[in-house]
Amino acid sequence: MRSRPVVTIDGPSGAGKTTVSKMLAEKAGFVRIDTGSMYRACALAARRAGIPWSDADRLGELARRMELSFRDAAGAAGVYLACEDVTADIRTPEMSMGASDVSAHLPVREALVAKQREMARDGGVVLEGRDTGTVVFPDAEAKFFLDAAAAVRALRRYREWAPGKGQPFERVLKEVLRRDVQDCTREHSPLKMAEGAVYIDSTILSVEEVVGIMMKSVRGAAR
Ligand code: DC
Repeated sequence: MRSRPVVTIDGPSGAGKTTVSKMLAEKAGFVRIDTGSMYRACALAARRAGIPWSDADRLGELARRMELSFRDAAGAAGVYLACEDVTADIRTPEMSMGASDVSAHLPVREALVAKQREMARDGGVVLEGRDTGTVVFPDAEAKFFLDAAAAVRALRRYREWAPGKGQPFERVLKEVLRRDVQDCTREHSPLKMAEGAVYIDSTILSVEEVVGIMMKSVRGAAR
């Protein structure tokens, strides 16, 4: 039995999960767990170890053994692989696709879902990802599915890059759509709305408006 709620936010790439979950966690005084960064870290670790993103068994073993943390020894937030700060290395277009590839394999999902359940065991947590409300915590006290029009999601991704450093918009849109298809049609834990989740379309809503809607449900769940 948890003493504090578990909140889940699922949705496609660029829907605003990262920004919204950071603000929500801060307002509620909860810890945030970015589950996508765990699949990204697995893709990066595999690349470095020379393990192809198609090798389910070796990837599963790697995901189980991976020493992953969200704080360094001094308490600074980031993504750390065996104490090395990989926060920036996992946020490349290549690792976005790699994360989507490795996340399709059941042994990888089993290993990372087990870690996520352990980390969020006591509640007081906001998890964001693709299956946090359907598979990781189907009994979460508050669940959300955050969506937005594909062109708007691609534009948000495009703007994350410094001018001239990223890819052309058309290419970003194509990658977003490709990842949507891959994440929604895979055999294991495809992206879909969890039973009992609140659907929020962020296409024309501000971050504050989305967080406001979420806070109401979270307060209700905390009672
Ligand atoms: O949220 P993100 O872009 O960092 O996620 C990267 C990939 O990881 C995404 O394309 C699918 C996968 N993923 C997943 O399968 N399950 C999750 N809970 C989170 C991410």
